[in-house]
Amino acid sequence: MKIHSLKLVCFSPTGTTKAIIQGIARGINQSTVELIDITSPDARKQPLQTSDKELLVVGVPVYMGRVPALLMEWLHAIKARNTPAVCIVVYGNRVYDDALLELKDIMTKRGCIPIACAAYIGEHSFSSSETPTAEGRPDARDLNHAELFGREINEKLLSVSSVDHISDINIPGNYPNGGITKLWSVDFIAIGDECTQCGVCAEGCPVGAINSKNSNLIDTEKCITCCACIKNCPQNARTMKTGLVKDAAMRLNKLYKERKEPIFFL
Ligand SMILES: Cc1cc2nc3c(=O)[nH]c(=O)nc-3n(C[C@H](O)[C@H](O)[C@H](O)COP(=O)(O)O)c2cc1C
Ligand code: SF4
Ligand code: SF4
Repeated sequence: MKIHSLKLVCFSPTGTTKAIIQGIARGINQSTVELIDITSPDARKQPLQTSDKELLVVGVPVYMGRVPALLMEWLHAIKARNTPAVCIVVYGNRVYDDALLELKDIMTKRGCIPIACAAYIGEHSFSSSETPTAEGRPDARDLNHAELFGREINEKLLSVSSVDHISDINIPGNYPNGGITKLWSVDFIAIGDECTQCGVCAEGCPVGAINSKNSNLIDTEKCITCCACIKNCPQNARTMKTGLVKDAAMRLNKLYKERKEPIFFL
């Protein structure tokens, strides 16, 4: 079957999911591509509708083994009409648990026909130079893998005459899905004197948890501990305080040193 355009959807506070999605898109090599980045709260105000003439690629990071709970409202509002879809989760070299199965099920319920699914590895959100976990990933090897996967998706699309001929993809996992949907509500960010109040962190916070006039003020009830503000600060003014998140960063660094590789299901 022939598709007329490619829609790429990603939620990606620290950019690893976006990089993978774009790698896959290079392999699919469609001339009409629309990137729908739902990382900002404003972007999640726009609902998504798709048709059977488009290919939809949806990528989300794994949070506590699950699809991030804050995306549920937006994902459940998608209106797809027999749209072939590629489901992607990106995780920080620990586990992706049932997140891929969960994403596939959500997209199916919204009217998509999953044609391919995959789990990739990205630098862990909690990773830092002192406690690196999957540092620098996705790297060239991962992006090459993503591009080859994109080509395989293309071949699969060409091999079927319509979405009715796409058979169900078996994703390993459990019902009810494992993992945890409730994230920590924790005051874990220290702000140093280097801060110039440039506003970059407030602008990039996916849940609007940082006060735009005073970056020292963080709403810990809203914060999802994504660490985008720490990683994107041009002054490196934001660091992790001692506590729950820093302890997790140290644990991850100790336990998940061994490189995991991407896996796909076609
Ligand atoms: C709250 C939270 C929970 C996470 N849970 C997991 C997890 O269960 N397993 C894992 O391997 N990585 C986990 N990660 C790491 C992210 O999945 C990983 O770093 C991903 O590449 C981040 O995507 P992004 O760069 O698009 O934001 C978690 C990160 C955060 C912030
Ligand atoms: S990005 Fe860094 S320098 Fe800019 S306001 Fe935030 S903490 Fe301060
Ligand atoms: S304040 Fe929290 S949610 Fe916002 S960017 Fe920083 S870590 Fe992420």
